[in-house]
Amino acid sequence: MIRTGLLWASRSPWLAKTLPRRRFVKSAVRRFMPGEERKDALGAAKDLQEKGIGAVITLLGENVRSPDEVRAVVEEYRAILTEIEYGGLDAQISVKPTQLGLDLGEEVALEHLLDLVAKAREMGSLVWIDMEDSSYREATIRLFSRCVEKADFSEVGLCLQAYLRSSPQDLQDLLPLSPIIRFVKGAYAESPEVAFPKRKDVDEAFFRLGTRMLEEGEMVALATHDSVLVERLREWVRGRPVGPKRHEIQMLYGIRVEEQLRLAREGEAVRILISYGPAWFPWYMRRLAERPANVWFVLKNLFRG
Ligand code: FDA
Repeated sequence: MIRTGLLWASRSPWLAKTLPRRRFVKSAVRRFMPGEERKDALGAAKDLQEKGIGAVITLLGENVRSPDEVRAVVEEYRAILTEIEYGGLDAQISVKPTQLGLDLGEEVALEHLLDLVAKAREMGSLVWIDMEDSSYREATIRLFSRCVEKADFSEVGLCLQAYLRSSPQDLQDLLPLSPIIRFVKGAYAESPEVAFPKRKDVDEAFFRLGTRMLEEGEMVALATHDSVLVERLREWVRGRPVGPKRHEIQMLYGIRVEEQLRLAREGEAVRILISYGPAWFPWYMRRLAERPANVWFVLKNLFRG
């Protein structure tokens, strides 16, 4: 019930306007993001690099519906890429299709995506496409496929959600493109017809999709903080007679930090998604919904003032 409430709150424009002004919310958010400015994200990426960990940087924001605002988002991503190159950082970017104007039309989002992927390509980096709620699934997959086919780009990766019943077929359809895929469990409120309601089914689907990509895909990012799942996948990799495809483990900034460091020390490729920007409310609500115990953390901050 708490999860449902938090996911409902993540879609409330009134709360998105009101709560972020509160000091106790701002200080609780700091646990999951290094700051609102570009320099904060770049600084965090540099710190991670010193520990042998790569980064993916994302500007928070979704459902951007004004063409001027979409252009500003694209300019901001171009600026991040420039600074990544200038700073010699092992960092990539991750974008949400509705941040690139998908609500204004697929062609708008495609044009911006191609622009960013071309820039990433010049500097030997990569652009990840996030997956939003299931109403955007088909358009997002089309954007990815068109980007790969149209420009022969292998510098673009797509996120697929293990909780979606459609993901095995989506992966099957994408495999001929030698895709780069990031698997996640899935963070949105979806109906049981669309997504598995039970955790154990989601975990099993993640394992099956992950191992299929390790066998047949181009490169796979296993994006989860679930240690049981991570160890199960590592065990599977160790048991293969032939080396598996390229893979890395991705986690979110501020979550299971000790685990991130341990995996890197043990020789795993680890990459951390760092979020920044002022539009953090819906994203933060989804982080709380993933682990309702985090709500106590917010409340503790409230009483501390
Ligand atoms: P699970 O929720 O089972 O958590 C496992 C353990 O991790 C928990 O027991 C807890 O210890 C810890 N943990 C997890 N979340 C926590 C939190 N918020 N606070 C504190 N501890 C926490 N989703 C999506 O729908 N579209 C997308 O594009 C992306 N992109 C993305 C990129 C990357 C790099 C990551 C790591 C995640 C995403 N996600 C996402 C989010 C994803 O769908 C999922 O909601 C979260 O990763 C949490 O699920 P876990 O796989 O960690 O497992």
